[in-house]
Amino acid sequence: MRTDTTSYTVRLSPDGPWAELDAWGPHGCEDGPSAFDWSRRTHFLTSADAAPAEYLPYGMRPFTGSDLVASRSGRERGVWWEFAGAEETEGSLRLAFTDDVLGLRTVLCYVTVPGTDVVLRWTEHTCTGGEPLRLERFDSAAVNVPAPDGVRLTYLAGQWSQEFQRTQLDLRRGTFTMGSVQGVPGHAYAPWLAVQDRTAPQDGPSPAYGVALEWAGNWHITAEAEPGGAVRVRAGRVPHEGAVLLTPGDTLTTPRLACAFSPDGLDGLASVQHRYGRRLSGERLHRTRKVLYNSWEATGFDVDAAGQLDLAKAAADMGVELFVVDDGWFTGRTDDTGGLGDWYPDPKAFPEGFETFVAEVRALGLDFGLWVEPEAVSPGSRLHSEHPEWVYRIDDRPARLVRNQLLLDLGREDVQDFVVGTLDRLLTTYDISYLKWDMNRPPTERGRPGAGPADRTDLDAAHVTGYLRVLDHLRTAHPHVTVEGCAGGGGRVDHATLARTDVVWPSDNTAPLDRLRIQFGFLHAHAPHVMSSWVTDAPGVFDPRPRSLAFRFVTAMCGVLGIGADLRAWNPEQRAEAARWIARYKEVRDVIHHGEAHLLGTPDDATCGVQYDAQDGTRAVVAAFSTGRLDGAPLVPGRAARLRLRGLDPAARYHAPHTGAAYTGVHLLHYGLPFTWTARHDAELVELVRQ
Ligand code: DGJ
Repeated sequence: MRTDTTSYTVRLSPDGPWAELDAWGPHGCEDGPSAFDWSRRTHFLTSADAAPAEYLPYGMRPFTGSDLVASRSGRERGVWWEFAGAEETEGSLRLAFTDDVLGLRTVLCYVTVPGTDVVLRWTEHTCTGGEPLRLERFDSAAVNVPAPDGVRLTYLAGQWSQEFQRTQLDLRRGTFTMGSVQGVPGHAYAPWLAVQDRTAPQDGPSPAYGVALEWAGNWHITAEAEPGGAVRVRAGRVPHEGAVLLTPGDTLTTPRLACAFSPDGLDGLASVQHRYGRRLSGERLHRTRKVLYNSWEATGFDVDAAGQLDLAKAAADMGVELFVVDDGWFTGRTDDTGGLGDWYPDPKAFPEGFETFVAEVRALGLDFGLWVEPEAVSPGSRLHSEHPEWVYRIDDRPARLVRNQLLLDLGREDVQDFVVGTLDRLLTTYDISYLKWDMNRPPTERGRPGAGPADRTDLDAAHVTGYLRVLDHLRTAHPHVTVEGCAGGGGRVDHATLARTDVVWPSDNTAPLDRLRIQFGFLHAHAPHVMSSWVTDAPGVFDPRPRSLAFRFVTAMCGVLGIGADLRAWNPEQRAEAARWIARYKEVRDVIHHGEAHLLGTPDDATCGVQYDAQDGTRAVVAAFSTGRLDGAPLVPGRAARLRLRGLDPAARYHAPHTGAAYTGVHLLHYGLPFTWTARHDAELVELVRQ
């Protein structure tokens, strides 16, 4: 398989009926003996255990970790398959394996993504016999990385309000695993992993391999140091009930795993992921992401027409383009204990009617957006009293509340129809062009009374399918509506969600230095055009470390700019400064959203930044930050801090229109762009125009 600049070469093993990796890297790396070759004769192991296998079932690979565990009900586990043929077309490959005793056909599927260095992999399992099959594990794929000296794993870990923290560990022996059983990808780990040689430089070129799973439910990614000096990474979804039943004639298709390679380290790998992320957005990539105002941090649940209009007027005066009313606009929602499920505007909050309120916002020249949490229901709501059976529950067991709410079983078709009907009603009754879809509680008592034996249901997949069905409906039935994905911050950020939304909310934490770190991690895996970010008030609810208003703006401008501060309290100087930043953002957002992004340094450095290069090479934009480490200012008074830029033409000259400065490309690449920080001047946005 050939991508833009890489080859991914698979062969049938000389040792048995399975496929294994021959080479993965820059074009031509497959010419020569495979880096995975060794005798594989090792005492106590089978050769399958030692192979860089693309996919092997338990049975054939008994000891070192298998990708498929299948059995007939009540019988021994294990698959012993034969190779049943390959189908190859331009950019795609299908390898079939069959086990006639079990009645199973498995097809390993590969597709290259044009314009990227991504190979998509997934697996199709068909029950070909007369008896159902029980699948306990059915990973999407396994990828192998040669690592005689061990690997460095980079992953994005955290918790609510601290999502996407870039975390690294060296794996020389043993197993590393991460995942979620929370019914969403979760705050704890992003379904993304990068693998490099353990000795690779932190900054600069070195082979980097990455995987990302396209699944909005339970998942795992596991890396294992293998005999023979390779690391094998397996990834897939995790059935909530412990296994799924595949009935005769049925096919189970696993989620796709995006497998990416770059010779240019984590920065290069991020560029590959961004290019793929832009393809996931499809034609919606070209929709202008408008500067939004969101009312959540300013008003919380205390929403009424007068207060919202005050905010909307202030926002419009600054150049904001879209006004979003967050939680608190509907009946019964005075705090987080009630209202969810009864999606009607509160007449007490909007005495002139919600239509009038929306028209007043629009009259300010703003688009209008609304927050919803369609899967949620408050126990005291009318919806819950009418449909208690729509909530996940287990008979005779307590129903726990998380954030005082319950979760609808979105795997049920009647629940999906209710959600579709509710959203259709809101989007057609009111002039809404933006929807924020939130989700604030994981499924806890995950049962569906009356659904039959627990091992016949696959509630995790059913919920994900329902969620994606509704998102798909929004895209086709309301194509003008921009959709923001959110789950209590960044709890549901995955390729399946990103393919069906326009932006996602990475975290509830908008404190400037915390946010910088969250965004730095986020940008390793996902593109800037999907990264929603707000400027909020100092000191904020999370982190009192002082940073300037400029720092807050430049941070939020690294993705899709929004404002979440209580503008009613801002003085004229703050409002004027905000207006200047918004105007500058509008000048450069096409480069930020469509350019090639480079991460310059890390938030652990005194100075770090993000560089965005226009695809045609005519402009670059650099967002630079003084993080305050040491003192943030130059160590020697008068000497500037510098950020070495990447990817520019060394022979060209670049001019910064806002400062009048001019540099050669080679200067910016060799010495870097200079910044003179002070305690109050801690961020800059520099536009460079090629002359
Ligand atoms: C969690 C979200 O992440 C916030 O932005 C906000 O919408 C609240 N929920 C509202 O309840």
